[in-house]
Parts: sequence; C-alpha cells; structure tokens
Amino acid sequence: MFRALARASATLGPQVAGWARTMATRQLLVAPPEALLRPLFIPNRLLLGPGPSNLAPRVLVAGGQQMIGHMHKEMFQIMDDIKQGIQYVFQTKNPLTLAISGSGHCALEASLFNILEPGDPFLVGVNGIWGQRAADIGERIGARVHPMIKDPGNHYTLQELEEALAQHKPVLLFLTQGESSSGVLQPLDGYGELCHRYNCLLLVDSVASLCGTPIYMDQQGIDVLYSGSQKVLNSPPGTSLISFSDKAKNKIYTRKTKPVSFYLDMKWLANIWGCDGKPRIYHHTTPVVSLYSLRESLALIAEQGLENSWRQHREVTAYLHGRLQGLGLQLFVKDPALRLPTVTAVAVPAGYDWRDIVNYVMDHFDIEITGGLGPSMGKVLRIGLLGCNATRENVDRVIRALQEALQRCSRNKL
Ligand SMILES: Cc1ncc(COP(=O)(O)O)c(C=O)c1O
Repeated sequence: MFRALARASATLGPQVAGWARTMATRQLLVAPPEALLRPLFIPNRLLLGPGPSNLAPRVLVAGGQQMIGHMHKEMFQIMDDIKQGIQYVFQTKNPLTLAISGSGHCALEASLFNILEPGDPFLVGVNGIWGQRAADIGERIGARVHPMIKDPGNHYTLQELEEALAQHKPVLLFLTQGESSSGVLQPLDGYGELCHRYNCLLLVDSVASLCGTPIYMDQQGIDVLYSGSQKVLNSPPGTSLISFSDKAKNKIYTRKTKPVSFYLDMKWLANIWGCDGKPRIYHHTTPVVSLYSLRESLALIAEQGLENSWRQHREVTAYLHGRLQGLGLQLFVKDPALRLPTVTAVAVPAGYDWRDIVNYVMDHFDIEITGGLGPSMGKVLRIGLLGCNATRENVDRVIRALQEALQRCSRNKL
C-alpha cells in the first residue's frame, strides 16, 4: 500500500500525494490561521472591575494540574470537598448543594428552570440588570412574571415585598443580594420568613457578594442560593455554586413537567454530585480542571475564615470609599448601610465621559475598572475589590490612576 502511495506521489504531484499520505478525501478550503501560529499573549492586568477578578496564586497552580477522568473516584472526592465548601460559604446544611458547569447565568437558569413551571406566578425584584435577566428567563419558561421595577441604586423593604406577595401570590421571589450594576446591598434578614408566610420560595443571587458580606442561607430562610466562581473566590469564570432548601427540593421533585433543560435538570445533577444517595451515572463531562480551581478557592476561604473575609472586604472597601470622596467623587448609593462591600458604584462626575476615564485607567495603568451595566449604564463607574484583590495597596493604585484620569479627561477643558 505504501509503495503504491509513493508511486502515486511521483506521478500525481505533491498536492495529490499529500492527500494520499493523510488519507484526506477533500482539499482543505480553510488554511491554518496565521493568528494561531503566533504565541499566546496575556497582558498583566489588575482586574478591579465588578469581576472577573485576578486568580489567587494557589488557584492558578491548581488549574495547571493534569486532567483526570470526570468519573474517577478522586474526582468524586474533589466534588464532595467542593460541596462541603459551598455549604460552608453559604452557611447551609442542605444536602442538595453542588457546583454548576457554567457561569452565574447558568446557575440562574438552573434555579428558574427547576423551580418554575409554565403559568407559575414569579415575583422579581428588578432594581438593576440581574432582575431584568431573571424576568427574561422567567418569561421564556412561560411563568407569569411580575417585575417590581425600581431605579438603580434602590433596594426592597419588607413592607413593599409583603404588599407584592399578597397581591401576586407568587411561588418564587427573586432578589439580588449584591446588585453589582449599581453597588446596592439588599438586606436579607426577615425576607425568607416573610416569603414562607405567603407560601413563596425565596431565590437569592449572591454572585457579586458571596464571601464579601454575610449571608446565612439556612438562618435567613433562603430556599435557592447561587453564586459565581470569578468574584471574591478568585477562580476562573465558568463554574457556579448552588444550593436548594428542602422546600425548594420538594417543589423540584413534585413538578408536573420536566425542566426544559436536560443539561441543568437538577435531578440529574443531584445524582452526579452524589446528593441523591444513588450510584453516580454519567450526565455530562464536568469541567474537571475548573473544579480543581474552585476547590482551591473554597479551601482558601476555609483557611481564612468567612468572618475574616467579610471583615477584609468591609474595611478595604470603606477605605476605598473615603479615598474616592477625597477626590471629590460621589458614591452612587446614598445610604452607607446599603453599599456593597465588594463592588462600588461611583456617580460619573459632571463634565466627563465615563468611557474616557475607564480607557485612561486601562491604557496608562493596566487597571480595569468599568462603566455601568443595563439600567446604570452611563450613570456610574464601577470598582470591584474582590478576594485577593481587596487590599489597601490596590486601592492606592486605583486612586492614583483615577486622580490622573480626572485631570486629563475633563471635557470642560476642551
Ligand atoms: C450579581 C450578578 N449576578 C449574576 C451575574 C452573572 O454571572 P456570569 O457573568 O458569571 O454569568 C453577575 C456577573 O457579573 C453578577 O454580578
């Protein structure tokens, strides 16, 4: 056979011979891209936006380890460790606690796909972009969505919610603990109890707040809680954390219809995460290496202690607030008690375009800060101090950068 191919190569010319050698049956229409023949280049950036944050050095090392199979017993041990880590950071004893193979949006979809059925009334706090997203997903499921719309920078009181619960009789209420688009910290004490009095489950997004400010899933009566890997946890984006109370689990296991997503079907996920006491069977290939990183992030928090992590964020962010006010900037959230200790929103100062400031800080200091998002777009600049990035030294760096940007970018000078 090889001799025949060699003869073909001599008689038919190099291109045809090439096909013969590689067994290709067609000529390639797309050449290897030039771009991929150049080495990968990653700039060295300080990520002080609302997330993702820089990876913690130990998380980086964990993510550089070799693959094992997603169904190997060592991997199941890592998944069990992660579950315990999530129970710790969520402060819950819920057995149905696991990581989702997907970013924070995936955890939001997992919550809504599994809890809501078509026609279910769904009450949503829309005081920023995350409520908008929850309402959008609820509509796609065919739930009867009742958005409670507020301007960015505001939160929901128990009294407001009680009126809405009485009026709409929802099966589920969505609130965002850390509204990263506006820098608001939503209080949570008493909200779970209130929901349960109205036979409603409470779903909370803690993507931008987890480990930066207290949350007590069981004691606060939260039925579904999710978070992300890429904020205070300093892990790569692409995995998220989720937990369901027994009440929420009961709603899932007594559904009349199947959840629209197979990938996010919680009964399947409960099995591969060892939450249902049955032998684990293949559902999807979990992101093995990302899970190493997530485990390491949770280990770092376990070593530091939750209270120390909360204190670190509160103190460093208070220092940031003082320095920002020292520059003459205004914090977007007026009430200090409602300011998120992870992501700070600063009102865009008069006479400036927010884009000029963000670009200046990136181009001259290699520091990422961002503008607003959704309803806060154009109104704010956002600075995140997340996990290992939450240091006074980083505050000093970003303040220096902002000071220079404010001198150079004023439109009034033009
Ligand atoms: C509060 C909040 N919820 C949800 C998300 C969505 O997470 P992801 O971008 O990981 O899908 C984010 C992302 O910034 C967030 O800040």
